[in-house]
Amino acid sequence: MTEAERKEEDTVAYTIENGIAWVKFNRPEKRNCMSPKLNRQMMRVLDELEFSDEVGVLVLTGEGSAWSAGMDLKEYFRETEAQGLGAVRKSQSEAYGWWRRLRWYQKPTIAMVNGWCFGGGYGPLHACDLAFAADEAQFGLSEINWGILPGGGATKVATNLLNMRNAMYHAMMGENIDGKKAAEWGLVNESVPLDKLKGRVTEVANVLLEKNPVALKATKDAVRRVMEMTYDNAEDFLIRAQEAANSFDNDGRKEGIRQFIDDKSYKPGLGAYDKSKHS
Ligand code: COA
Repeated sequence: MTEAERKEEDTVAYTIENGIAWVKFNRPEKRNCMSPKLNRQMMRVLDELEFSDEVGVLVLTGEGSAWSAGMDLKEYFRETEAQGLGAVRKSQSEAYGWWRRLRWYQKPTIAMVNGWCFGGGYGPLHACDLAFAADEAQFGLSEINWGILPGGGATKVATNLLNMRNAMYHAMMGENIDGKKAAEWGLVNESVPLDKLKGRVTEVANVLLEKNPVALKATKDAVRRVMEMTYDNAEDFLIRAQEAANSFDNDGRKEGIRQFIDDKSYKPGLGAYDKSKHS
């Protein structure tokens, strides 16, 4: 399919298999760069999947050789800039909007980085809770190579995930790193050969599907929130976050304790309790 034929609704594809939603950037002929159309469609897809009972984990990956080649230099930058400030702000809001939605998504999320990942792609990469890359993937803050700073949150992502020297080198040099280096630097959790990537991500997703979903959402939010807090504020926040989670799922917590202390049917240090035994 050529780009001229690709409709807005075809810029993102997804399937749901055994509790896992496999969501794909779907503009392979444009290396999955993010156009305003793709950004709007991604928000629709996230909206559709977030509270679906069929979905326990969301995986974000790319069709073809790219995960995402970042923002679309033609449709996101040149064409919106030609329409003036209002169009620029609207496009930014559409892009940043779905990344924010993903950062605080109800379900656990995994970035499965199968290939190129550039610039603006760091927004959704960071928005996913976990990230797994192919050894063959290439990551780059290429902005400096075409004359801008890494905006759209990319500089913030680099400084959140990398140490200062690596963030600075990465942003200033415009050199790419492969999946292995990305894992060594902390940009992703792990890197495996491309032909093992889906298998590894499925394995991780299946572990997450076993966990108590209320506890998972509370945990992933807590990790992002406490990073910006003092120790004392974090301590207080965590007490309140747990108490709020209890009001939705105290039975799960009690069942977890019961199966360990009374039934002796599992050990929390070695795996999750059987959540099928409570409503
Ligand atoms: N914006 C707009 N178009 C893009 C794009 C982007 N970010 N990335 C790729 N494309 C388009 C190319 O213009 C080309 O379009 P065409 O077929 O109409 O000529 C098509 O996608 C294929 O790209 P091509 O460069 O031929 O693919 P490649 O596999 O040889 O190289 C990349 C892949 C990712 C290395 C290269 O496309 C690239 O450098 N893209 C820009 C990456 C970037 O700097 N992104 C940061 C944006 S913030």
